[in-house]
Amino acid sequence: DWNMPDYVSEAVEAIRRQVGDDEVILGLSGGVDSSVAAALIHKAIGDKLTCVFVDHGLLRLNEAEQVLKTFADNMGVKVIHVDATDDFMGKLAGVSDPEAKRKIIGREFVEVFQREAGKLKGAKWLAQGTIYPDVIESAGAKTGKAVTIKSHHNVGGLPDTLHLKLLEPLRELFKDEVRKLGVALGLPPEMVYRHPFPGPGLGVRILGEVKKEYADLLRRADAIFIEELRNFKDESGKSWYDLTAQAFAVFLPVRSVGVMGDGRTYDYVVALRAVQTSDFMTADWAPLPYPLLAKVSGRIINEVRGINRVVYDVSSKPPATIEWE
Ligand code: XMP
Repeated sequence: DWNMPDYVSEAVEAIRRQVGDDEVILGLSGGVDSSVAAALIHKAIGDKLTCVFVDHGLLRLNEAEQVLKTFADNMGVKVIHVDATDDFMGKLAGVSDPEAKRKIIGREFVEVFQREAGKLKGAKWLAQGTIYPDVIESAGAKTGKAVTIKSHHNVGGLPDTLHLKLLEPLRELFKDEVRKLGVALGLPPEMVYRHPFPGPGLGVRILGEVKKEYADLLRRADAIFIEELRNFKDESGKSWYDLTAQAFAVFLPVRSVGVMGDGRTYDYVVALRAVQTSDFMTADWAPLPYPLLAKVSGRIINEVRGINRVVYDVSSKPPATIEWE
């Protein structure tokens, strides 16, 4: 049986023993795993930890501000915020193939991170939020049997090129344990119980070529969807956000005709995706209540000028995948 306060103090001691007085760098993404790793390591070594937060411009609405507020303002963690939006957008211009986009985002991410990490001369350790299922998965990947449907964003090559030792304090934990640990360390429950978000971010939720204009529209539509999922509850009082494993908006770069007031519109389409799954290997589309869908569609079309049509994705995995790319 797992006793949280004991676990925290043992983990803190283990980190102190491992790194001594050395400095540690960590790539903060805003996701659960890197966030919990940052909070734990900060508790162990304080200012000897520096987090590098690379913003690729493909995050959700206000996400960068939330990460900085939580870590830098509230917890006093040293965070270097790198706004690399223009670099990423530049590299992605003219590229529409999903795997090519993933590779560009992954490569650019490593490059920006290395550039920043290189400036921190004293650092000896690279911390990562690797959790137990990642350890198992990468052991499986080495046998080379699985067919690659999507190449996941992965920064596994970093320690080699940076000549840093690896610090992975969550290696033995499952996701639910990581979440409990995060709450025990004082992270906001909304952050710890957030739906997973892919490394390439909105880059794989904007079909085809990524443009800043599309990302800005998508962010606003997505935020409305998430807000209403949190507002709508089922009979037991559970929100539809908590009743789904992942939910998001997808930007379709096609235009359709609409009418607004007495004018014609010719604008973009947004698809809503919400799934229920326990392992993300298979997933069912979520039976969201019609009033919720009506509210979200009405708000997006009225509030996000540039989008005049909203559709709901009723495809399960397989044969569809959760993300559209
Ligand atoms: P799919 O779309 O393959 O997604 O059904 C399964 C889960 O994996 C996430 N996903 C990714 N995560 N980098 C990531 O870090 C990626 O390139 C990527 N592609 C998909 C997806 O959000 C879902 O949770």
